[in-house]
Parts: sequence; C-alpha cells; structure tokens
Amino acid sequence: PAVVVLFGGRSSEHSISSATAGGILRAIDRDRYRVIPVGITRDGIFVLEVDDPDRFAMSAGRLPEVVDNGTRVLWPEGGGDQTLRVRHADGTTAELGRVDVVLPILHGVHGEDGTVQGFLDTLRLPYAGGGVLDSALCMDKHFMKIVLAAAGVPVTPWVTVTRRRWTREPDVVRAEAADLGATVFVKPARAGSSVGVSKVHEPGEMDAALELAFAEDDKVLIETAIVGREVEVAILEGRGGAAPRASLPGEIVLTTREFYDFEGKYLGGDGAEVVCPADLSAAEVDAVQSLGVRAFEAVDGRGLARVDFFATPDGKLVVNELNTMPGFTPISMFPKCWIASGMSYAELISELVDTALE
Ligand code: DAL
Ligand code: MG
Repeated sequence: PAVVVLFGGRSSEHSISSATAGGILRAIDRDRYRVIPVGITRDGIFVLEVDDPDRFAMSAGRLPEVVDNGTRVLWPEGGGDQTLRVRHADGTTAELGRVDVVLPILHGVHGEDGTVQGFLDTLRLPYAGGGVLDSALCMDKHFMKIVLAAAGVPVTPWVTVTRRRWTREPDVVRAEAADLGATVFVKPARAGSSVGVSKVHEPGEMDAALELAFAEDDKVLIETAIVGREVEVAILEGRGGAAPRASLPGEIVLTTREFYDFEGKYLGGDGAEVVCPADLSAAEVDAVQSLGVRAFEAVDGRGLARVDFFATPDGKLVVNELNTMPGFTPISMFPKCWIASGMSYAELISELVDTALE
C-alpha cells in the first residue's frame, strides 16, 4: 500500500511532528509500504518532502522544520479519486500515484484537532489515528474534561478562563484560582508539548502565567496541581472489532525539574526521565490500563491515544489528559510503552497503518 506520511503543520508543535517524521521515515517497513512524505509548512502549504530521515533528525537545541521548497502537493480530486499529484517549482506537474492511506503525525491545532481528519473524510481518503470527534474533543482540554467527568473518569479540578472573562473580571478569576489550591497549573486549552504552560506557586505569579497561556490560545485552564506520580499508558484501537488494548504503563520521573516542560521534553533539558515500564504493582498496572481504556472509549477514541494520569499517594488515579497523536519519536513515551510491551517501533507503525486500511 502507498502511505502518505503527513507532518509539520501550523501549530506550535510543528517541529515535534517533523522530528517524529524522521523516526517514522527511518523505521517504516519499506518492503510493505510505498512512502510519500508530505510536509505542511508553518503557513499551511503542502509540500512534497524529501524521503530522508536525517533531514528531520532531532538533536538537543535543534528542532527540524518543514520549509517551502516550491513544490505543491495536489490532493486527489475527491469522489473516490485517490491519485496524488505534485506541481514542481518549475511549474511542471507529475503523478505520485494512488494513495491508500494517510498517516497524519500532526500535533496540535490544524492537525490533531479533527480539521485534517475532516478534510480527509471529505476526500474519502482513509487515515490512521483519531477521527474528527475524538481529535476535536481531546484537543480542547475544557471539553475533554467535561466528557471524561460525565463518563465517571476522575479529572483534576479546574476552571476555564476565556480572554474576555479575564479582561472583564480578573478578581473573580483570581478568587476561583485561589480556591483550586496553593499550587496550580495554567495552560492553554488547545496546545500541547507544554507550550504556554506554567506552574504557579503563589498568587503573584498568576497574571504572568495567564498572559503566557493567552499568547497561545484565547481559552485557558487553571488546574489544581495534583501531588503524585505521573503515569502514562499507551492505547491502541483493537483490530477487527476487538476491544482497545493498553500497554504497560510508563512514568515521567522528575528529579530536579519542576514539571515536564518543553525544554525537558525536547531540548535535552535534564531533571526529567521517561521510564517504561513504571515501577507499579500488578494491581496498579491493571487499574491504570482499565481506566486508560475507559477514558479512550469515553471520548470515542480511534486509532491510538496516550492517556496521562496522576497517581496520588493515597492510591487514587486522576486523568490529566488524552493525546490523540502523542509524541511518536522512537524515544517518546508512546512507542516506549509498546516496545516495553513487546512490539517494535516498526511494528507499531504497521499496526496503525493497517488498522486504518481495515
Ligand atoms: N503533544 C505531545 C506531542 C504529546 O502529547 O506527546
Ligand atoms: Mg497534551
């Protein structure tokens, strides 16, 4: 089958997606799939990319990018046509052949939020990963929490603050934040990779934290900072109508870092470690896996998701969030969890693509 690997995109997580592309282009089973790498620039231009993993390698302090190389990818015309074309920089066009499936490894808005999924649905092109609804829900932390809570999945206490409300009634917002506890997190409703996220330890830090989050989105969440371990589990949609299955859980172990922020995630910052499997009892593993699957089903999950939890010292599990296209470089938590569970990185890519082809 021919697979379009679609990456980059208009969100603040453009580079993370591009780094994942490097991992996928290197590992995808070339005996089984014909690969067509399509990049989306930060401006939303679809370009034909070079099929070169090294071009998108991530090293500390240097994050890869999709840039406008003058090519334009021309999507199929719709109505069942599956022929992809390219217009080269010199104006000539060429056929890239039939597309069987798209693997969108996009993070954040305009990619992980249902928009690209709806576009592909309209073109009748099969794609891997989340669908329109689960992607849209999980991109918006406000609505994700409402849906999880309604399904009986424990979530962290929070308030949602729109920019308009912050401008009109800052004192009410500050009072609501104070009710959430001495330490809170402030985050944009629709972002990822900890972009725009702050940990606030005292009221004097609140205004700056809100401004940082509002730079990313005009809707922001303030959440109680839960004291506990950060445990994550990787979920895959069952093939052939089987139930979704959960990997062994992993853990983000913080040593010196305040929280697992962007620098700790991608810029080689130390003080946080991604560990899998997490040191948990069999009963704890069971609880994490079953709540992970419940959360996935609550949002009508498709394809895959990583479910992030806090495990409190008194034995409770609280869901922090779901990510419908979690970090997917070979050293990211999602692949690590499946590798620890006996699946290789290449097998995991095949599993995602083949699920979409079913
Ligand atoms: N948003 C990042 C990529 C993650 O969830 O891993
Ligand atoms: Mg996230």
